[in-house]
Amino acid sequence: MKSFFLATVAAATLLATLPAAAQFQKPEDAVKYRKAGMFMMNTHMGRLAAMAQGRVPFDGAAAAASGEALGHLSLLPYLAFIDSNSGAEPSRAKANIWTERAKFDAAAKKLQEEAAKLAVAAKANNPEALKAAFGATAGACKACHDDFRNP
Ligand code: HEC
Repeated sequence: MKSFFLATVAAATLLATLPAAAQFQKPEDAVKYRKAGMFMMNTHMGRLAAMAQGRVPFDGAAAAASGEALGHLSLLPYLAFIDSNSGAEPSRAKANIWTERAKFDAAAKKLQEEAAKLAVAAKANNPEALKAAFGATAGACKACHDDFRNP
């Protein structure tokens, strides 16, 4: 687990130092990357939702692992919203991402802040702390989807 997280952070650092155009060889690679990142965030949000909503028993270690994963994963998908041209890969990204970029970036930053708080709260071994931070993070996902993702 630990080496995965370190690798994720190393990858994020590497990506941040490359010019956007050099990061993906084809437009569809960028779309695949951001969709994969969203899918991974969704997987960990699903695990936390099941605990936050009492559908599965609370498991402090599983909550901490998913919270930590989300803290890291929330940094990644936004590096791949580089171009409105999706190439061969289907995309639900709305065109206003590229005309309202500051608003989109603010929505990404909001998620990253909430996910960082969730990563801390999920380590508290406390279902109530998890519920509150989960709700705030889910709200940040939804706010961006309402504005910038096609149904
Ligand atoms: C700043 C905006 C933004 C935030 C925040 C955001 N998303 Fe997304 N999400 C998008 C956009 C735009 C797409 C469409 C991407 C595409 O199809 O190119 C998307 C797509 C997705 C998809 C579909 C992926 C696929 O395979 O087609 C899932 C699932 C998803 N998001 C989950 C989440 C979850 C869970 C969170 C919060 C933890 C989140 N998103 C936060 C903008 C956002």
